[in-house]
Amino acid sequence: MFQFTEDCRTGISSIDKEHEKLFGMIREGMELLEKDEDTAFTTVKSLIAALKKYAEEHFANEEAYMEEIHDCELERQKKEHEKFREYVNQDHFNGLEEENAKEKLKELLTYLSEWLFRHILGSDIMIGHNMNPKEEDVFAFTDKYRTGIELVDEEHKRLFEIIKETNDLIRAELLHDKYDAIVDILNELKEYTVTHFSDEEAYMEKIHYEGLPAQKTAHAAFVDKLKQINLENVDEHQQEYLNELVEYLLNWLSTHILKMDKRIPVK
Ligand SMILES: [Fe+2]
Ligand SMILES: [Fe+2]
Ligand SMILES: [Fe+2]
Repeated sequence: MFQFTEDCRTGISSIDKEHEKLFGMIREGMELLEKDEDTAFTTVKSLIAALKKYAEEHFANEEAYMEEIHDCELERQKKEHEKFREYVNQDHFNGLEEENAKEKLKELLTYLSEWLFRHILGSDIMIGHNMNPKEEDVFAFTDKYRTGIELVDEEHKRLFEIIKETNDLIRAELLHDKYDAIVDILNELKEYTVTHFSDEEAYMEKIHYEGLPAQKTAHAAFVDKLKQINLENVDEHQQEYLNELVEYLLNWLSTHILKMDKRIPVK
């Protein structure tokens, strides 16, 4: 079961409270299913209906907050919320029989908790943490990013460098093989990120860090985002797409290090 951990805190108390409540509702549903009472299914069904409603309310609040602070992740967030909506709006209760109902409802609740956990760690955690790639020094690996774990710091530094190189490339006007160079650097970023995550996870495993599941989830969400980068279909708006991409990469890395990696103990 996925639940609200310290790593899920965005630092915005109204949003954190709502996330906690969503996890609480899912947990309540799971507990009801465990009880094996006759009324459990009906209760779980109405609980899921309530959860859907509360999630809507929460998305609206979160989006309004982001709008207010001009958060550059707003459009991406809206799309993710929409995916959740699409999923919960399917008729999950159709074809539920007495025998399979429990399993199906469990599956649904597990999916919801996993979605929420991943969404918070991969996206919500970035709310209010906008960095402007037009400012020169945002690409610098400064002391505030140091975790004190030598290998991790070295690798983070390299990640910042790769993102800076990507930014320099997309802003270079007169490069004749600019497109190929961008493809190459993004591939390098993908590969290096995977290497870094596996090194970092190995370290956390070694020290038996309790935050490992949250870290793995956040890493997987980011790797998924990297896999979705597609330069082929963005011809007309390529420059805009690339600018946003760099902004996203930088924001993600910076937030992830500051909010999660810095909590990893040095041993
Ligand atoms: Fe969100
Ligand atoms: Fe890291
Ligand atoms: Fe990490």
